[in-house]
Amino acid sequence: MCDVQIRHAWAAKGAPEPPITPATTMKILGIESSCDETAAAVVEDGAQVLSSVVASQLSVHAKYGGVVPELASREHLRGIVPVVRQALQDAGVELGEVAAIAVTSGPGLVGSLLVGVTYAKALAFSSGLPLIGVNHVEGHIYSVLMDAKAAKKPIGLPALALVVSGGHTHLYEVLAGGGYRLIGHTRDDAAGEAYDKVAKLLGLGYPGGPVIDRLAPFGNPHAVRFTLSRMKGNAMDFSFSGLKTAVLRWVQNSDLENEIAARRALLEKTPVPSVEQWIAVTPPKTLDLLASFQHTVIQELLSRVRLSADEIGASEVIIAGGVAANEGLRQAACLPHGSAYGLVFHFSQRSLSTDNAAMIAAAAYPKWQRGEFSGFDLKAQASLSLGGMARPEPAR
Ligand code: KG4
Ligand code: ZN
Repeated sequence: MCDVQIRHAWAAKGAPEPPITPATTMKILGIESSCDETAAAVVEDGAQVLSSVVASQLSVHAKYGGVVPELASREHLRGIVPVVRQALQDAGVELGEVAAIAVTSGPGLVGSLLVGVTYAKALAFSSGLPLIGVNHVEGHIYSVLMDAKAAKKPIGLPALALVVSGGHTHLYEVLAGGGYRLIGHTRDDAAGEAYDKVAKLLGLGYPGGPVIDRLAPFGNPHAVRFTLSRMKGNAMDFSFSGLKTAVLRWVQNSDLENEIAARRALLEKTPVPSVEQWIAVTPPKTLDLLASFQHTVIQELLSRVRLSADEIGASEVIIAGGVAANEGLRQAACLPHGSAYGLVFHFSQRSLSTDNAAMIAAAAYPKWQRGEFSGFDLKAQASLSLGGMARPEPAR
């Protein structure tokens, strides 16, 4: 025990000291288990993804219409060892060849986080490698920064980052030197959560974002007029609960029982239906609703982005997180009005928009360079935050 403490003295809290690793390239093993994806990846020099393995638990949670925390932890326990082994094998490296082990320490489901954090600690302990705890939200931002670095086209800082996922709809100022300033966030549901709830209501299964995204182009986005939320206090905050309630009212006032039952029956038979199969059980009026819902979410997101970019004087915008995979959002951001805003938008590759471990390994790289290591007291923190709030939170 004493021996281990001495060898790991640099990794202990309060005594960071960079390890002596004279490698010309530096590989980090990343581990992610904050929600319903067990993931591991090896990333070289914070930019080159040598491997990225994601074991999705979708089939486990789909029938419940959302993530069941207890089931998620159990699946992570089952998946973590083979997933890490596969990531090392795909990258063609042994554990001893990586320079550090990075792991998501929060935010997320505490039971899920615990599996990744505990396993990463065990690996670090047994291998003598340094451990680096990473904030999941920072990881999402790095899914974009990593691509820019690989393409040797660094993003000009300060930049604006919109992290938009199942748990977050947050706007950050990304500062030069690795800092973040939170400038706005959702006061109720996250955008991805709104997608998931609307999809559940309409019998479209879980997760809702991808299926609504695929069906939205078949409807009229102006058919149902939803109002954008008006925020008292911080105008850069978001709200999606009003939109969700408006969709619920629309559904209650329409006679949709039969079509919803038909879609649920389709999902029972076919776990991932094709667009044609969905359209066969989704009348035009409902497609119009989906298109209008998606249009409103995109307007809500982009209007706050424009305001925030103006506020901080940023001309480059990072959009990351599961909802960043949305085709409608990507198209809208790149439409003429995107350039009319004078903004340059950066999205991550679609495969790196949703949860993965490559972004965790990439976010750990500058920490490794700065010698910011975690001790074995690293905790799984369900509500870990990133960046201080720029202004007081408005009363809810
Ligand atoms: O980042 P992520 O994988 O996990 C969290 O950190 O939450 O995001 C998952 C969320 C889900 O709510 C899912 O419905 C949404 O991202 N999502 C999408 C799309 N793909 C995933 N939302 C809209 N359009 C998509 N194409
Ligand atoms: Zn995420």
